[in-house]
Amino acid sequence: MPDGALTAVVDDTIWTLDRPVWFSGVRMRARTTVVRLEDGSLLLHTPAPPTDALAEQLRALGPVRWLLVPNCWHHLGTPAAAARFPEARVVGPASALDRNKALRIDVDIHDARFGELVPELEALPLRGVPFWDETVLYHRPTQTLLGADIVLCACAKDHWTLRYAARLTGFYERVRVPPDARKKIPDRTAAARSIRAMLERPAQRLIVGHAEVIEEGWRDGLARAWRLEGVEV
Ligand SMILES: [Fe+2]
Repeated sequence: MPDGALTAVVDDTIWTLDRPVWFSGVRMRARTTVVRLEDGSLLLHTPAPPTDALAEQLRALGPVRWLLVPNCWHHLGTPAAAARFPEARVVGPASALDRNKALRIDVDIHDARFGELVPELEALPLRGVPFWDETVLYHRPTQTLLGADIVLCACAKDHWTLRYAARLTGFYERVRVPPDARKKIPDRTAAARSIRAMLERPAQRLIVGHAEVIEEGWRDGLARAWRLEGVEV
């Protein structure tokens, strides 16, 4: 697979693109997920900085109408993407604005208006973890959950720095809550309610920012990861 190529996850509807990102001394894979909506337009979940090659690939799939910032961390490529796709609306949490002065948000992800504007997506906020302020999306047509940081999992494909950190902190070939958030779950009851809502969706797969696409056993993996942090789901 050439660098920067989109990988199809669901034919004609969902693609992913992974790019390397250095974070806290390790090289992670950061994912952008592209969803083709029923009107033919595209939603970019965690937009990558748009290279010419990516913009060309996207143009062949449809017009980019939505740029989605899923939590207050996954905003880095969005200002550049918003400049590249000026007709796209940015949806995300207001908390991300504090972290990125170049970011603009047109629709707050916690506003019910988003569900009215894009009815095929259901917003499932993760309450009780303000450190992330994450909202997972359930894409009804493909029965896909789209998250960012709610869990992660490293594997042999990852850079050695991440494999090393993952072995030390328990997420090598194992779905876990990211180590930097484990001590930042002030309301476990609220988090449990939110994770349960995700588990109840009839999803066939879970796509997150830093793991392979999780299909078989996604429900067990997600539930086990949060139970390890004292969240009773
Ligand atoms: Fe992340």
